[in-house]
Amino acid sequence: MIIDLAGKTAFVTGSTRGIGLAIAKALYGAGAKVGVVGRDVERARSVAASLGDRAAGVACDVAKADQVDAAVAAAEAVLGPIDILVNNAGLTRDNILLRLTDADWDTVLDANLKGAFHTIRSTIKGMMKRRSGRIINIGSIVGLTGNKGQANYAASKAGLIGLTKSVAKEYASRNILVNCIAPGFIETDMTDALPTEARATLLEEIALGRLGRPEDVAGTVLFLASDLAAYITGQVLVVDGGMVI
Ligand code: NAI
Repeated sequence: MIIDLAGKTAFVTGSTRGIGLAIAKALYGAGAKVGVVGRDVERARSVAASLGDRAAGVACDVAKADQVDAAVAAAEAVLGPIDILVNNAGLTRDNILLRLTDADWDTVLDANLKGAFHTIRSTIKGMMKRRSGRIINIGSIVGLTGNKGQANYAASKAGLIGLTKSVAKEYASRNILVNCIAPGFIETDMTDALPTEARATLLEEIALGRLGRPEDVAGTVLFLASDLAAYITGQVLVVDGGMVI
């Protein structure tokens, strides 16, 4: 096996469906122990059970620091110290700026950006002690390009890039590598709502001529979590089929 994560423990937020689930499956398949993190504990546990006995389901709203700390402690009690943190949980509240409410802004920034701050703060001490760790933040191509109707979401994903680079610099001396993946258009529940016409227009912009699959992102996470990526930190890897070149 080229990528062998046996003995490592991963903690993947928002991993009961979509991209997060594909990431959890890929890490588990490479031999890692996996903390499946969702907002609903029953769902998280049933997804973990479907992966196998090296997985455990825990619940938290990543926007809530105390819940994150408790979920990290619960996962570590069962699986051991977290080596690989994947900040995947995210949501959208799209609207043109003039119609965005404070609640739309706060909900998106609190989950997508503050959530990553919470999980990093909660796990990084252990990584520092062990002088080893990988943190992978799932951003978005719109964090680089911006997008009409997504000022809040794009700001949260751009913020993740600043967070990634800063934490990469702060903890490189402890051998903690921090990177960001910026997916393009991936087929999941999040993008299901897109009207057929908009989907067709988008497809024309993608050089590889197809929408992305959750597994396309999961493969990149696997790479960044592995020894193959031992000399990569503070980077943004775009996984968009050549949508933005
Ligand atoms: P999804 O909506 O299918 O899954 C997101 C997961 O995050 C859900 O399980 C949801 O419950 C969880 N979540 C949301 N807010 C949370 C919170 N406050 N606390 C805990 N969990 C929370 O979405 P998808 O498509 O799988 O997205 C995963 C990540 O990939 C997100 O960060 C998203 O922004 C990002 N992304 C997705 C793209 C796409 O085209 N689908 C493109 C670029 C980035």
